[in-house]
Amino acid sequence: MSAVRPVESFENTSRVATISTARTCTAAPAFGPQSSTSTLCAGTRLFSSSSAADESERRDKLMGYNLEDEQCNVTPTIAARVGTNLHLQPKHPLNTIKNIIEEYWKSYEANAPFEAHDDLSPVVPTNLNFDSLLIPPDHVSRSKSDTYYLRDEVVLRTHTSAHQTTLLRSGVDRFLVTGDVYRRDEIDSSHYPVFHQMEGVRMFTDEELREAGLSKTESSEAELVKFAEADLKAGLEGMARALFGNVEMRWVDEYFPFTDPSYELEILFEGEWMEVLGCGVVHRNIVQDVGRGRQPGWAFGLGLERLAMVLFDIPDIRLFWSQDERFHSQFESGKIVKFTPYSKYPPCFKDISFWCSGADIKPTDSSFHPNDLYEVVRDVGGDLVEKVELIDDFIHPKTGRISNCFRISYRSMDRSLTNEEIDALQEKVRELTVDKLGVELR
Ligand code: DAH
Repeated sequence: MSAVRPVESFENTSRVATISTARTCTAAPAFGPQSSTSTLCAGTRLFSSSSAADESERRDKLMGYNLEDEQCNVTPTIAARVGTNLHLQPKHPLNTIKNIIEEYWKSYEANAPFEAHDDLSPVVPTNLNFDSLLIPPDHVSRSKSDTYYLRDEVVLRTHTSAHQTTLLRSGVDRFLVTGDVYRRDEIDSSHYPVFHQMEGVRMFTDEELREAGLSKTESSEAELVKFAEADLKAGLEGMARALFGNVEMRWVDEYFPFTDPSYELEILFEGEWMEVLGCGVVHRNIVQDVGRGRQPGWAFGLGLERLAMVLFDIPDIRLFWSQDERFHSQFESGKIVKFTPYSKYPPCFKDISFWCSGADIKPTDSSFHPNDLYEVVRDVGGDLVEKVELIDDFIHPKTGRISNCFRISYRSMDRSLTNEEIDALQEKVRELTVDKLGVELR
């Protein structure tokens, strides 16, 4: 099994000292599109939305933000996923994993159960998704090629960590947040622009510290961190056992801007080390900024698809979105069972080659980003697209222009596709690639 979307890499980035104090739009939106800004972004806006009958419902889910906005790079295909909430569908594998984890933490300490949130809006202020978590202003994950923006100051959350500071500020000591997250990315069996994460946070109360012989004011930073870290590791090892049984585990040093120290937990699964989650001791600057002084605590984040694919033997991430009864009838609420693929239909490969900039544009001015092509293909082919890969690229020796050739694999999960159908899709992809990306087909 190829590695299914690991937690975001934050290696080799510098930290910022500024922390945002903005409020969030969690349960009740505290912000809206009415605050207009004059800054226009350079991001590529690929599509305009069709004014379908469900337009107003969609706008509600997007908190009133408009896909037509200059700053918006959210496509109708992505917008249509908002509010689907696969993690809340009974019997769905993502719901089962979520329930197992929630049960585990609810009984972890019976007298201090975790508060579980699973319906917070994925539309969040940009600063809660990035700044408040100390993610540097120039970090690549903020770019419009990687993140879906509704406005420069509002994103579709890229991780459930986006809710951390709001909940910490509201005074909750233990919580879990489950939800859909959005990232512009490549297309293959383990990447989908919408997936699901679970975030967990535990802060230690004064009483808990006292019982451990510690004090927020008198104990050293090192003592508090050591205490939180020991609890974090014991708790997460227990959670991994609740999911995978008695497996071998190891802790690997990591870097996340919002925790210090930071780790990844890996388990030995079918002979290979597999990353299960990212975690760490909540960064002291975050704790201080949310008004909690030196209170120690820990946090973790994990991807539900990643775990469900290995636990249920689900070979392709698109299956989670399938509406086919042959998929859903295989699962029971709360049970981990092995998925039996119903017959695999043949793939069909189509190549598309182009110069990455128009003939009249200097090669260095080309703004082509593969994620823009993936978006075109996804918008045209939907879940019939299994994979898109760069199979050839070269620079013309005389003109300096860059040529790319991408191979698109079309394959349905549920039926055979006809040649006519695929040809029509491919033609549309070619057309839109030229229209939207400003490249020249070869
Ligand atoms: N937010 C991270 C991601 O999306 C995952 C994560 C890592 C969350 C470490 C945490 C944490 O709370 O402590 O990749």
